[in-house]
Amino acid sequence: MLSDRSRPVIEATLPVVAYSIEEIARRFYAGLFGEHPELLDGTFNRGNQAEGTQQVALAGSVAVFASALVEDPEQVPEHLLARIAHKHASLGVTPAQYEVVHDALFRAIVDVLGDAVTPEVAAAWDEVYWLMAYALMNIERGLYSARGVRPETVWREWQVAERVQETEDVVTFRVRRTDDRLVKTSLPGQYVSVRLRMPDGMRQPRQYSLTRADDGEHRQFSVKRVRADGRPDGEVSTLLCDEVQVGDVLTLSLPFGDVVLDDSGRPVVFASAGIGIAPMAGMLSHLAAAGSGLPITVLHADVDEASFALRDQVAGDVSRLRNAGMHVWYQAGGRSALPVDGVHRGMMAVDQVDLPPGAAYVLCGPLPFMRSVRSALIDGGVPARDIQYEVFGPDLWQADLVTEPTPDAMAR
Ligand SMILES: Cc1cc2nc3c(=O)[nH]c(=O)nc-3n(C[C@H](O)[C@H](O)[C@H](O)COP(=O)(O)OP(=O)(O)OC[C@H]3O[C@@H](n4cnc5c(N)ncnc54)[C@H](O)[C@@H]3O)c2cc1C
Ligand code: HEM
Repeated sequence: MLSDRSRPVIEATLPVVAYSIEEIARRFYAGLFGEHPELLDGTFNRGNQAEGTQQVALAGSVAVFASALVEDPEQVPEHLLARIAHKHASLGVTPAQYEVVHDALFRAIVDVLGDAVTPEVAAAWDEVYWLMAYALMNIERGLYSARGVRPETVWREWQVAERVQETEDVVTFRVRRTDDRLVKTSLPGQYVSVRLRMPDGMRQPRQYSLTRADDGEHRQFSVKRVRADGRPDGEVSTLLCDEVQVGDVLTLSLPFGDVVLDDSGRPVVFASAGIGIAPMAGMLSHLAAAGSGLPITVLHADVDEASFALRDQVAGDVSRLRNAGMHVWYQAGGRSALPVDGVHRGMMAVDQVDLPPGAAYVLCGPLPFMRSVRSALIDGGVPARDIQYEVFGPDLWQADLVTEPTPDAMAR
């Protein structure tokens, strides 16, 4: 818990820290990589650094955590940390690295805030940092030990057994284990980090959702090539889609991720757009393999049917499930060759379909898509706690809370 001594100091300095925290985060990363360039070889994602999204995510998480502590100093808001801890574990973050990050962060704070950082202010923020760090280290220790690994041993080599060109821009990789060790199980909806050596010699990790249930031998994931208008093409997705062939060996982490299928027996509604179908395909594959009778509704939006990656696998799993239905939205409407319950034109509108009462919702797709579906669901009376979402990048939603702390957003 936050001490009585630090609480008023954090409360008083939170606005100025929140205001400057993106600048602090920028300086922090510049300092961190200046002193520890090895962190850019296999641990940090340099695409997120170039875009600035990781800086915003880090800043947002610290501000949200500190605000929650000021509101309730007795309670460390651990629920805010699960996503971060899973991401850290998928990259093999170690307890010792928290010292390194601490030192770089506090140097950046002093750099940006100057004389405002009195010894009292420094001590109060130090306390917040270590509350957050110990909470994260504890969750991460639990994640590593549940899988019987250490941070250094989350990585394994897998051989590409199959490569399927799903659509013009999406390739599915099916990889097979390369030794006799047991394949650790995944929970439905989890992802792996895939670590690749880039042409400049540096290794770069990226996360990819598992798109098929475990069979004890293989993992499957699907990669959408990132083409950016005017900006560099995505480096890892392009390398995977263009260069990686059957027989090649890839390095994958164990599966992690906190957006997993709700197993309380409630109906489940999946709402995805584009490559956001990936975690849904994984969850549907698990449900189909388990012969689930849960009421399942799959809602998917895409440019057209030819762009809908994994459509045959998804439609096959929906057909195998006793109580499942699927609706698709294509930009220009049209017909579907899949056994769907409805084809709609344009953007997904959840009020065009009957949704089961009391359902758990899972969203995945571009942020504007998820924001619009989530707002429509909340307007329709779905409680915020029943809506989970997976973001295919650093989670910037927490950062939104700094400027707009609504009660329902905090409940997420
Ligand atoms: C939990 C999770 C699950 C995911 N699951 C999937 C999945 O199942 N399938 C999938 O396809 N993806 C998935 N992703 C996304 C994936 O991890 C990668 O982010 C994606 O493949 C892009 O990586 P990249 O290396 O190709 O792009 P990057 O090289 O990282 O580029 C990303 C963006 O940054 C821009 N950029 C890069 N360098 C610069 C620069 N110097 N200046 C300006 N802009 C720059 C690029 O133009 C691009 O828009 C997931 C992500 C997460 C976090
Ligand atoms: C209290 C300390 C820390 C906080 C608050 C923190 C916070 C965060 C946040 C918010 C994210 C983004 C999660 C997401 O939405 O995907 C993240 C990712 C990450 N963190 Fe930490 N972190 C801390 C410590 C560390 C340490 C010690 C390391 C080790 C070097 C580390 C390495 C990383 C890496 C490599 C990522 C992924 C970056 C990316 O993909 O761009 N973090 N962290």
